[in-house]
Amino acid sequence: MRSDLQWGGRFTHAPDADLLAFGSSLEEDLPLAACDVRCSLAHVEALAGGGIVSAGDAQALREALARVGEEIAAGTFATWARAGAFEDVHGAIDARARELAGEPGARLHAGRSRNDQVATTLLLYVREQCQTLAGLVRSAALRLLDAADEELAAGTLVPGMTHWQHAQPIALAFWLQAWATALARDARRLDDAERTARRSCPLGSAALAGSTLPLDRAAAARALDFDAPSRNALDAIGNRDAALDALHAATRALLTASRCSEELVIWMTQEFAFARLDDRASTGSSLMPQKKNPDVFELVRAHGGTAIGMLTGALATVKGVAQSYQRDLQETKAVVVGGLEHARTVFSAFERGLGYVRFERERCTARAAVGFAVATDVADALVLSGLPTRAAHERVGRAVAQAEAQGRELKREDLQALGIDVPLDGAGSVAAKRTSGSTNPSEIRLAIAALREELQS
Ligand code: ARG
Repeated sequence: MRSDLQWGGRFTHAPDADLLAFGSSLEEDLPLAACDVRCSLAHVEALAGGGIVSAGDAQALREALARVGEEIAAGTFATWARAGAFEDVHGAIDARARELAGEPGARLHAGRSRNDQVATTLLLYVREQCQTLAGLVRSAALRLLDAADEELAAGTLVPGMTHWQHAQPIALAFWLQAWATALARDARRLDDAERTARRSCPLGSAALAGSTLPLDRAAAARALDFDAPSRNALDAIGNRDAALDALHAATRALLTASRCSEELVIWMTQEFAFARLDDRASTGSSLMPQKKNPDVFELVRAHGGTAIGMLTGALATVKGVAQSYQRDLQETKAVVVGGLEHARTVFSAFERGLGYVRFERERCTARAAVGFAVATDVADALVLSGLPTRAAHERVGRAVAQAEAQGRELKREDLQALGIDVPLDGAGSVAAKRTSGSTNPSEIRLAIAALREELQS
């Protein structure tokens, strides 16, 4: 077995193979490989910019790293690395570059530690993942807004609920726009994490104290599109804040997906029957021939919990870590990479699943105003006529109790007895809303347009 360890001069014995395997993060690190190549290429610029390697050696290193990049894309690098005994992907890439470049390859790691290499590579990965995930979250939100447009045109209503009890009629478009609004916040949170991860470049911090080599840190930061080189090497190498922010943001997006899924699962019960899932997204039962289940949304709901576990694991990993580099930080890669990949997989399924949801327009609309859902509008009308709100609440409450005892909804005569007139149907109720951000269709139209513009900009 090849063991291209990056140290050994002061050791008398080769490492115990089992303990070396225990200490290896190669497998979990492999998704970081392409980012490490970019990080390594930027280090070549820092070396060349500081005159630490000759122009010819720098070119040889760039070419070798470009080849490693091709091998990563082709999948052959992973096979090569797995056949060795590497502690991590960072050492493996360095070893492969040495193998490909010959003598200049042995100059690549000058002035660099895996400490600053790992910190920088992880930030590059986090930035990419935040962008991808924010894109997915935005496309889910846009999908919901497209559906909102359709339901607005169709005039579909649903019961707006609190405590899962009928509260007030709302437009179905309003419900869809509500989830899109939450997702837009999630996407912005991912943008913020990406922004944080772009702020300062650890490369050139070396092991913890900076370097005696005149590394051109600004060139490295520029090559990797960071705002600037980091300002404290000791902090830079052990800082995992942006990675944790990204994982938190990703988890939050999954929590929105999880909550929305819960509601959809309930809407798909025969008791609600507000929504139906296309066969292509449904599953059946091995025993009960009639069954059709919305597994995709049940699973998304469950994955929200898995994501919380991964985030908690990541936070717990750093909680006792002293300043500088401690080996515990190796574990942050596995949880951050695993957590962000998990978020991407689950969110893709959620986004795809949404495309298979169909709403039962007549059923939803028919249920929108039942359960005395216009009672608040009636009380509002009494307030407008000059009654104090507590008195209005009391009077309408009594009218509701009376109607309920008679097994009916509120009717015209109840309004006449109260001396006011308001629409008793759902469509009239939503159209009567006057505040901005309300479920009034003209407000929804404005809100959808503003949100769509934000999501597309
Ligand atoms: N394998 C570690 C990681 O991936 C890097 C180890 C740095 N080692 C060290 N002796 N400072 O995080």
